[in-house]
Amino acid sequence: MSNESISSTLQEHRLFAPPRAADLGFSAWHVASMAEYRALHERSVREPDSFWAEEASNVSWFGPWDRVLEWRAPDAKWFVGGRLNACYNCVDRHVQSGHGDETAIVWEGEPMGPKTSHPVPGSAYAAEPEIRRLSYRDLQIQTSKLGNALKALGVKKGDVVTIYMPMVPELAVAMLACARIGAAHSVIFGGFAPHAISERAQDAHSRVIITSDGGFRRGEVVPLQTNVEEAVDQLNNLGHIINHVVVLKRTAHVLPSQRFVSGAMRNGSTRFHWWHDVVSRASDACPCEAMESEDMLFLLYTSGSTGKPKGILHTTAGYLVYAQMTARLTFNLIPDAGQLFWCSADIGWITGHSYVLYGVLMNRVPTLMFEGAPNAPRNDRFWDIIARHRVTQFYTAPTAIRTFMKWGDEHPAGHDLSSLRLIGTVGEPINPEAWMWYHKHIGRERCPIVDTYWQTETGGHVVTPLPGAVATKPGSCTVPMLGIDAAIVNEGGEELPANKGGLFCIKKPWPGMLRGVYGNRERFISNYWSRLKDPRTGEPWYFSADGARRDEDGYFWVQGRIDDVIKVSGHLLGTMEVESALVSHPAVAEAAVVGMPHEIKGSAICAFVTLRPAWLINNKREPDDALKKELAAHVAGEVGALARPDQVRFADGLPKTRSGKIMRRLLRDVAAGVEKITQDTSTLEDFSVISKLRADEE
Ligand code: PRX
Repeated sequence: MSNESISSTLQEHRLFAPPRAADLGFSAWHVASMAEYRALHERSVREPDSFWAEEASNVSWFGPWDRVLEWRAPDAKWFVGGRLNACYNCVDRHVQSGHGDETAIVWEGEPMGPKTSHPVPGSAYAAEPEIRRLSYRDLQIQTSKLGNALKALGVKKGDVVTIYMPMVPELAVAMLACARIGAAHSVIFGGFAPHAISERAQDAHSRVIITSDGGFRRGEVVPLQTNVEEAVDQLNNLGHIINHVVVLKRTAHVLPSQRFVSGAMRNGSTRFHWWHDVVSRASDACPCEAMESEDMLFLLYTSGSTGKPKGILHTTAGYLVYAQMTARLTFNLIPDAGQLFWCSADIGWITGHSYVLYGVLMNRVPTLMFEGAPNAPRNDRFWDIIARHRVTQFYTAPTAIRTFMKWGDEHPAGHDLSSLRLIGTVGEPINPEAWMWYHKHIGRERCPIVDTYWQTETGGHVVTPLPGAVATKPGSCTVPMLGIDAAIVNEGGEELPANKGGLFCIKKPWPGMLRGVYGNRERFISNYWSRLKDPRTGEPWYFSADGARRDEDGYFWVQGRIDDVIKVSGHLLGTMEVESALVSHPAVAEAAVVGMPHEIKGSAICAFVTLRPAWLINNKREPDDALKKELAAHVAGEVGALARPDQVRFADGLPKTRSGKIMRRLLRDVAAGVEKITQDTSTLEDFSVISKLRADEE
């Protein structure tokens, strides 16, 4: 458990009562007391059909559903027989009900300088940032045009479109346009490397990619299009042809690469098109496709304990019902109430899908999108954005909060944060110290904090305080969302007494749950549904792969993952993914990757590597710091910068049990014992003694 050291030693007794709605500027709380929460929760799990039927009435249907749920564990079909469209629910229905001119998205670009120019440090930063506001009508027109353009490129209902873009409004347009025409989107985080793109596009059988020439990040240009070109080449070598690549002009930082000619044939059959060309030719009349409730809405790849990422499959109706409900209740979203919601996550993660886009737009509350980094150009950029736009609800990650703490209190102190009414956190356990800092310096001791526990697989929050009802404790994600029957159990499925650590499970289906791992039924079952079951009926329960405990008040405390994935700065990474990247370097014979505690990132990657002596001799190299750096850079090049190990350590052999299993626990202990993150000794680790000592323990 990567965060065991943080959470299990907690003795946290501070309790923060929910504030009064009026004191914060809310007209009311959706759920206003613990008694109301308890009654609602009890009903939601006892009578799920009527509860979810009511929630489904917040979604607009083209055709009514006739059964709330068909459940043959682990397969759920929600709102069976219904027909609807996600883009219609986020966009068109608001236009039709007379809200077309209202703001749907407020976007701010990273460069604080003249429009779309490359920022020149010191001069361009002095100017105003680029800001765009898109109304629901703008979104309707733009998703219609892009939808028609995609159809003209041959995209059909049911196809998977890969999207690899920076945080610009067109990313939202691209996702909604796919939904509009019934294509599923598979968004890949812009920080991933070419190999990650090709691997995901191939797994999804995707033939069309939407990207951008580049994206701005900390004043630099991220070469997104170049990465896509490389991925297209890799796919081509595998015999997987990408038919079309649509390229948004964003950074215009370089002339189109020589390999890029709009509309020209490349690699036999891949065509590259400028976004503005295909869209300018397209009509703005594009009806929203009527989708079945269980038609795929999107795939989102996440790391697992094998080297290959999993395509988590979400479908239309259940996901929408769950995203709108959780967004509404957790963040107390209310339309026409002067709210501006800002989730700082990248849309390339599930947090961005549910709470930058779908959940917020469904509730007709404007959503803020920011293109860049919190320290571009200065360490106060986020607070500057909150103050200038009058953000009312703000949602970010513990790793960001710890970074802000390190940067210093003066950055938020210099800004007017009085518009804030509620603040939230997600992605990993938050240490009480960071919680208290967030409460004091950002929430100004007024705003409730919602610590939301959930996963790519759950579609939306599954354990979280409802801000008007649940008193909070620093470090606890508190109580289950309505409709979530959560428990801490042992391997035998027995519920554990208060404060005893066990496995986090959900006993009943919920609408936002994943419907599968794309193309891999076996992984769907073995990852989520095979470890825990109801000891009486034998019915499988959902297992999240997290260890957690529940305290005497029934509050949940998540301790961290118990599988071979690591949370680095809130991003999930498979140890095997990083190990495969390492062994793809010719110097490496064997590699083992573990997480080690890190003050800001939560966990950082520590890689133990054995080298090939012949390679060292042939290349006249030593096992030195230069080689460590080279291997770390190699991982970043293969997977993406977020996977770059903080530490590479050479060993003469990896410690193994008699049956040949790598002793990860030992390696974690060794990694955790390291005082300094940057250790420059190049001596080899000798595990032989410790391995012998520990061999019988494993
Ligand atoms: O370990 C839990 C941790 O993040 C994992 C899910 O990661 P991912 O699918 O990338 O989704 C992240 C955003 C929803 C979980 O298994 N996690 C997420 N939120 C919390 C958390 N751990 C503790 N507290 C949280 N609030």
